[in-house]
Amino acid sequence: MRSFRISLATLLAIAAAAILARPVLAEESAFEGRKKCSSCHRSEYQSWAETRHAKALESLMPGAKTKEKLKAKLDPDKDYSADKDCVGCHVTGYGKDGGYDPEDPGKYLVGVGCESCHGPGSDYRLIHRKAGEAFENKQETTPREELAAAGQEFHFVERCNACHLNYEGSSWSGAAKPYTPFTPAVDPKYAFDFEKAVRDNKAMHEHYKLDGTFTGEPLPEFHEEFQSEAKPAEKGTEE
Ligand code: HEC
Ligand code: HEC
Ligand code: HEC
Ligand code: HEC
Repeated sequence: MRSFRISLATLLAIAAAAILARPVLAEESAFEGRKKCSSCHRSEYQSWAETRHAKALESLMPGAKTKEKLKAKLDPDKDYSADKDCVGCHVTGYGKDGGYDPEDPGKYLVGVGCESCHGPGSDYRLIHRKAGEAFENKQETTPREELAAAGQEFHFVERCNACHLNYEGSSWSGAAKPYTPFTPAVDPKYAFDFEKAVRDNKAMHEHYKLDGTFTGEPLPEFHEEFQSEAKPAEKGTEE
C-alpha cells in the first residue's frame, strides 16, 4: 500500500512538472487572417494585394498559368485549388490552428498573406493595439521582445524557405513532401536567393515609415535599410 502511495505521489509530481513545463514549450499562436492586420496597416495591405503572393491561389485554378504548368509537367486543365499537394504553399496557415481549410475556405486566408511571413497573429496583434495606444497617449514605447515572445517573426528566412526551397535536392535541410513543382531544374528562374527576394517590394509589399512604437531587438538586418527608404503610411483603426 505504502509503495503504491509513493509511486502515486511520484506520478503526480511528474504530471505537475509536465504541466508547469508546458509554457516553456510555447505553443504556436493561432492564425486569424489578414483582415485583422489590414484594418490597421492599410498601406501595406494595399501594396500586398497587388503581389503574386496575394493571388497565389488563383494560379491553382484550371486555365491559369498554362505555359508554366506544362513546363512543370502539370495538367493545365486540372483544378488544383483544393489539392493537398498544392494548397499548403498557396494559402495562409494551411493545416495550422486557425489557418486555411479547403472545406471552409475563409477569404482572408486565401493567398500567401501577412501571417505567412509575419507569423500567426492572434497573440501579437493585441500587443500592437495596446502599444499603439500607449505610444499615442503617453509616448510610451514597447520592447520588440514582447512581440517575438507572442510569435511574431523577425527573421523570415525559414518561413520563406519552407515554401520556396521545399523540393528534393534543395539546399534547405527541412525539405519534406509535398514539394513545389517549380524548381531550378524546371527553370533556373525558380532558384531562391533570400537576400535578393526579400528586397523585392513588388513581391512582399512596399515599406512604410514606422513611428517607433517598438524598440530594440530582434530586428532583421535589413530593417534600417527598408525604413530609410520607406514612404509615409496611411493608417487605419481596428473595425
Ligand atoms: C489595432 C491595430 C493593429 C493591428 C490589428 C495590427 N497592428 Fe501591427 N502595428 C500596429 C501599430 C500601432 C504598430 C506600431 C507602428 C509604428 O511604430 O509606427 C504596429 C507595428 C507592426 C509591425 C512593425 C513592428 C516593428 O518591428 O516595429 C509589423 C510588422 C506589424 N505591425 C504587422 C502586423 C500584422 C502582420 C498584423 C496582423 C496579424 C498586425 N500588425 C495587426 C497596430 C496594429
Ligand atoms: C506559404 C508559402 C510562401 C511563403 C511563406 C513565402 N512565399 Fe514567396 N511565393 C509563394 C508562392 C506560391 C509564389 C508564387 C505565387 C503565384 O504566382 O501563384 C511566391 C512568389 C514569390 C516571389 C516571386 C514574385 C514575383 O513577382 O516574381 C518572390 C520574390 C517571393 N515569393 C519571395 C518570398 C520571400 C522573400 C518570402 C519570405 C519573406 C516568401 N516569398 C514567403 C509562396 C510563399
Ligand atoms: C512547397 C511549396 C509548394 C507546393 C507544395 C506547391 N507550390 Fe506552387 N509555387 C510555390 C512557390 C514558392 C512558387 C513560386 C516560384 C517562383 O516564382 O520562384 C510557386 C509557383 C507556382 C505557380 C506559378 C509558376 C509561375 O512561373 O508563374 C503555379 C502555377 C503553381 N505554383 C502551381 C502549383 C501546383 C499545381 C501545385 C501542386 C501540384 C503546387 N504549385 C504546389 C510553392 C509550392
Ligand atoms: C512575403 C512576405 C510578407 C508578406 C506576405 C507580408 N509582409 Fe509585411 N513585411 C515583410 C518584410 C520582409 C518586412 C520588413 C521587416 C522589417 O523591416 O523589419 C515587412 C514589414 C512590414 C511592416 C513594417 C513597416 C513596413 O512597411 O516595412 C508592416 C506594418 C507589415 N509588414 C505589415 C504587413 C501586412 C499588414 C501584411 C498583409 C497585408 C504583410 N505585411 C504581408 C514581409 C511580408
